[in-house]
Amino acid sequence: MNLEIQHIIYLLSSVTFILGLKMLSNAKTAKKGNSLAAVGMIAAILTAIVFHDGAVSPLVYGLIFGAIAIGTVVGWLTAKRVQMTKMPELVSLFNGMGGACAALIGLVEFHHNTSNPTNMAVILAGMVIGSVSFSGSMIAWAKLNGTLKNAIRLPQYNLINTAIMFGLFAYSAWMIWAGTADEMHLYILFFASIAYGILFVLPIGGADMPVVISLLNSFTGLAAAFGGFLYGNQVMLTGGILVGSAGTLLTLVMCKAMNRPLFNVIFGAFGAGTESAGVAGPQGNVKEVGPSDLAVQLNYSKKVIIVPGYGLAVAQAQHVIKELETILESRGVEVTYAIHPVAGRMPGHMNVLLAESNVEYDKLKEMEDINPEFAQTDVVLVVGANDVVNPAAKNDPSSPIYGMPILDVENAKACIVNKRSMNAGYAGIENELFFRDKTQMLFGDAKKVLTELVTELKALD
Ligand code: TAP
Repeated sequence: MNLEIQHIIYLLSSVTFILGLKMLSNAKTAKKGNSLAAVGMIAAILTAIVFHDGAVSPLVYGLIFGAIAIGTVVGWLTAKRVQMTKMPELVSLFNGMGGACAALIGLVEFHHNTSNPTNMAVILAGMVIGSVSFSGSMIAWAKLNGTLKNAIRLPQYNLINTAIMFGLFAYSAWMIWAGTADEMHLYILFFASIAYGILFVLPIGGADMPVVISLLNSFTGLAAAFGGFLYGNQVMLTGGILVGSAGTLLTLVMCKAMNRPLFNVIFGAFGAGTESAGVAGPQGNVKEVGPSDLAVQLNYSKKVIIVPGYGLAVAQAQHVIKELETILESRGVEVTYAIHPVAGRMPGHMNVLLAESNVEYDKLKEMEDINPEFAQTDVVLVVGANDVVNPAAKNDPSSPIYGMPILDVENAKACIVNKRSMNAGYAGIENELFFRDKTQMLFGDAKKVLTELVTELKALD
């Protein structure tokens, strides 16, 4: 009877995970989806503890609930306090903890299972993948929070990493074949996996970290699924598979939106040496515009499209941009936002940022929907975006971003680009858009210049 109840709860929990994931795909239902899946997870954890076979000492219960309480408080407070721009860092840290849990399962369960090759294969796979995910996520976290500033590339790092990866496979296969019960081999494999995770992520540039984190997230899911298989725990298996497949899909979607194969992200050293300075590219004169002239231009427009990018997040200018939208709409100007799928540094970055300042979700238009509208637009205001509006993606086959779909802002009657300097964006390349006839540059920190722009607009009333 107990087993049936357990299975029913596990089934219901799995359903909440699937529904929760589905609801996450829309901003309006995302919060509810997250809560629904969390309820399912709580039910699954409690069921696993309550319906556990065999006697458990009060001390063990104390340790379990103590660890859950500490984890809940620390996780809750950290997630509550985190700034939006620090979100990838937090995801990376949490993902690393998941990987560490999967690795610990392997370390704890190894000695019970050496006589069963299938169990041993499952344990070693979960431990290796979990350890790689843990150490890799910690490096990604250190890169994103600025502790590790530069990509560190050993000579022939791709060869070294590939050799270690095959070494991990071979060593695990040998341990299973030999059925060794010697824990020394387990620890060698564990430390080699930790080293591989570090060496795998170290050479990858900081700006590519969101893709790497998503990939490591899929590793953690896979490692958890191996744990579920080992314990015969269906909900752990389903949860792991869902995380693994969602992480893999997200990784591929990001790579597709950037038009870069995953291989290139991992091995390509993209933007190496050009991350902060522009490389040779289009040169010429740029036209500047100030907040007061721009205010007049916007005031007499009928249709304005705002293109947000990474710089908007850096400047935390989401509230002032909402104020700009409200003023323009009160003057009869139609305002929408063009959202490029990889604008910013994480999936949905711009959506979440603009939601913080209560921009209506219906005003955010995806690239395919908004691109035909630029030709009928009076002014496009590009705020802190660079690569996602770079025409080189369409015109220059030698460009590293050639083939990446971009927002066709150059089709508008006028294009205003706000950024602080002529420095390059994430891809490290110059942008010929800045030198075009219809383009005017509004130099300065986004929050500062947009605040000035709003003041000028108010003065025109
Ligand atoms: P970027 O190409 O990185 O350009 C951002 C621009 O913002 C920079 O050129 C910078 O110029 C400007 N900026 C920085 N701080 C600013 C501030 N305080 N005020 C005003 N401007 C500021 O950004 P994007 O156009 O959003 O493109 C995103 C890039 O990231 C793409 O290449 C994409 O492939 C990559 N990427 C995205 C993701 C995801 S999932 N979103 C993941 C990995 C990589 P100044 O320094 O001159 O101000």
